[in-house]
Amino acid sequence: MLDIIKSFKGRLVALTGAGISADSGIPTFRGKDGLWNRYRPEELATFEAFSRNPKLVWEWYSWRMEKVFTAKPNKAHIALALLEKKGLLKAVITQNVDNLHERAGSKNVIHLHGRIDEGRCLECGKVIKFEEPPKGVPKCECGGIIRPNVVWFGEMLPEKELKIAVDLCSRNNVIVIGTSAVVQPAASLPLFAKRSGYKIIEVNPNETPLSSLCDYVVRKRAAEAFEDVLEAISEEEDFQ
Ligand code: OAD
Repeated sequence: MLDIIKSFKGRLVALTGAGISADSGIPTFRGKDGLWNRYRPEELATFEAFSRNPKLVWEWYSWRMEKVFTAKPNKAHIALALLEKKGLLKAVITQNVDNLHERAGSKNVIHLHGRIDEGRCLECGKVIKFEEPPKGVPKCECGGIIRPNVVWFGEMLPEKELKIAVDLCSRNNVIVIGTSAVVQPAASLPLFAKRSGYKIIEVNPNETPLSSLCDYVVRKRAAEAFEDVLEAISEEEDFQ
């Protein structure tokens, strides 16, 4: 895969989904062991659910936050960070709310669906960072209730991040890693690349609605797919 990546000469962005963090022990949403097989999104991941029962929603997010805080970035996260450092990758656009790309060393990370380690006050809008999962329903210093700073079903994606993502995908090849490519608008981002004459690579052990449009498909788990890339770039010191 490194040869393909090198052939793009730095005109490359990554679009990641839950599958890249699956190898770090963070559950995906769909599929046999997916979160949406065990929990009902309408009870946990909508604003209505939060208004009805903020305690329950926060319990669920605190449980997931704990999983993220104790997880470690895997070879795929680390390879992407090194590719950025070497000038071969411009940015990571992620649907994931975890912080594993940042912890692996990626600098330019665009979070389309928010961040699980942040909360946002419903009154004053202040964003706060959690060092550990909150117990109960956290309150802002202004007295307002704090919600998880993530995008829920029925909510808009953050405008600035979406614009940056569309712009990047319109001007670069895209490597799509570990997403079922069924949630819009993220799933359509690689089409901007295709329309502008750039290529799409997919890294996913399973077929997705994007697969037939891809120029290269790597049917492996993310950590396994990036093993060789990581080994090669770690060895090449002055590689550009
Ligand atoms: P999904 O759970 O829908 O899909 C995970 C994808 O990862 C599937 O296509 C799997 O085949 C693939 N996969 C599983 N293990 C993998 C591995 N080890 N390496 C590589 N790929 C693997 O997750 P997303 O596509 O990220 O939205 O879901 C998109 C959005 O739906 C999420 O951001 C979330 C969810 O509802 C919000 O919370 C707004």
